[in-house]
Amino acid sequence: MLDILNLDSLEERARALLDPMLFDYIDGGAADEWTLAENRAAWTRLQLLPRMLRGVADRSLGTTVLGTPVSFPVLVPPMAFHGLCHLDAEAATARAAAAEETIFVASTVSNCSLEAIAEASTTGARWFQLYVYKDRAITQDLVQRAAAAGYSALCLTVDTPYGGHRERDARNSLRMPAHLALGNFPPSHTDQHHHGTGHGSALGQYIAAQWDPGLTWQDVDWLRSIAPMPVVIKGVLAPDDAALCVEHGAAAVIVSNHGGRQLDSVPAPITMLEAVCEAVDGRAEVLLDGGVRRGTDVLKALALGARAVLVGRPLLWGLTLDGEQGVRAVLQHVRGELDLAMALAGCASVADVPRELVLR
Ligand SMILES: Cc1cc2nc3c(=O)[nH]c(=O)nc-3n(C[C@H](O)[C@H](O)[C@H](O)COP(=O)(O)O)c2cc1C
Repeated sequence: MLDILNLDSLEERARALLDPMLFDYIDGGAADEWTLAENRAAWTRLQLLPRMLRGVADRSLGTTVLGTPVSFPVLVPPMAFHGLCHLDAEAATARAAAAEETIFVASTVSNCSLEAIAEASTTGARWFQLYVYKDRAITQDLVQRAAAAGYSALCLTVDTPYGGHRERDARNSLRMPAHLALGNFPPSHTDQHHHGTGHGSALGQYIAAQWDPGLTWQDVDWLRSIAPMPVVIKGVLAPDDAALCVEHGAAAVIVSNHGGRQLDSVPAPITMLEAVCEAVDGRAEVLLDGGVRRGTDVLKALALGARAVLVGRPLLWGLTLDGEQGVRAVLQHVRGELDLAMALAGCASVADVPRELVLR
């Protein structure tokens, strides 16, 4: 089993194994990477005020997300191209999530097809993350295939009308390695990632060519009309947008800035969480991602109203270092840190994390 002291320590270990272009793609953020850094820094500005003598010998970390039981409130977010990290790609990550009893969110741009991911983790709970293509027939087909393959929610990412200005990828002229494909699409899509045109990021070019920057709230209504499963909206920061998500029928909202990879200068999701929860007012579940690296981060998010959080890059480092077992080790490590943090803070159950735990 991968030996983990803390999640940060995985990054340098994974860097040693990865082609620098691929490491940069995973690790990097947009522009000056101010938001990328802020996603971590924002947690350090929140302090916990623990309570004592509350009898924490028996702790319960399990909860539900959209009715699905999870063993602890940490999910696997959608991330493109797990094949960059390990040949087993998303199949390994999905199996790990299933083994640790949490939800795996499969990206539109996975290396494994959504059907292969479903086959790899028949017992696991899965959501499908959707990017809306200009060609609506492609979009509709993805939604139907996800429903047929048993994905229990559709996670619409709304913060990516275009790819963010990721300077590392531009500098490296990011290309997908020749042995990998886009699992959900015909070879012509993969070709665009292998070759690109001229300099710059082939992924950025693909996004500009394929994804629909004209998306509006009416498209959310359209998706709800074609999707038999609940719709989760990922990538909002403004409380007013969160309220609109609810008005347009979202079952859950993920407060996220795409791991600092889209618009630079935006606040860390944890900064906006409480205001978003106020705007949503219990009408939908609120989740959060961005820089969650410690059990105490999870605890802070729960106290400020999140139903659950998602941990991104460290899972890809775990996948790089030890495949399925590496992803399991990362999830287990976060669970262990959360368990101890709860005990030390006087919380026996994730349902019982009071707002007062985070100092105002
Ligand atoms: C390599 C990589 C690829 C990603 N691909 C997607 C994607 O395909 N769809 C999506 O909605 N978000 C994507 N994201 C954003 C993640 O879902 C998540 O919001 C972010 O990684 C959380 O921040 P963290 O990495 O600091 O934990 C990606 C993030 C990374 C690091």
